[in-house]
Amino acid sequence: MKGKPVRASQSEMVEVVLPNQANPLGNILGGRVMHLIDIAGALAAHRHSHSYAATASVDHIDFRYPIRVGQMIVLKSSVNRVFNTSMEVGVKVFAEDILTGERRHTSSAYVTFVALDAKGRPKPVPPVIPETTDERRRYQEAAVRREERLALRLKKSQRRP
Ligand SMILES: CC(C)(COP(=O)(O)OP(=O)(O)OC[C@H]1O[C@@H](n2cnc3c(N)ncnc32)[C@H](O)[C@@H]1OP(=O)(O)O)[C@@H](O)C(=O)NCCC(=O)NCCS
Repeated sequence: MKGKPVRASQSEMVEVVLPNQANPLGNILGGRVMHLIDIAGALAAHRHSHSYAATASVDHIDFRYPIRVGQMIVLKSSVNRVFNTSMEVGVKVFAEDILTGERRHTSSAYVTFVALDAKGRPKPVPPVIPETTDERRRYQEAAVRREERLALRLKKSQRRP
């Protein structure tokens, strides 16, 4: 399969935080951010693979700063590495102030998507080609993260109920 550069599927999603997505302090709910991370990640996975895709796992997520009602939440996603049927997608979340335009990095997550055929079976994905220094670094580091997450998965599946 012919590889595709990371830039071909990089995606950005933006929306304004509304009061119905916030806690009583006026900050966006963590669950809402996780939902948007899943969707933003899926955009890059679909664009890269041109397939249906299922979320197989999400590595841990930190919420470093609150995002306030009335600010914009900006999510950038890119395919870090393709394995066989799975892809690691990195999603970076920012809060952007409408009045000043200032952007603050609030969260990052690594989401693994598995490409599926029309019958819901995992299917191979074209390789991704890292071009920049950062893309090459993420590509290398993704292999280490994959080992860790698959080891964790195995450990969990071996636990007695
Ligand atoms: C994800 C899913 C398709 C994997 O199916 P499976 O039968 O375990 O498939 P396989 O064991 O053949 O693995 C397929 C790929 O998924 C990867 N994978 C499976 N579980 C994983 C996990 N927890 N984390 C990361 N990758 C995972 C495997 O490493 C493999 O990748 P590779 O082909 O690149 O090496 C299946 O578990 C599923 O349908 N899960 C539900 C997905 C879903 O509904 N998500 C929405 C939220 S509930």
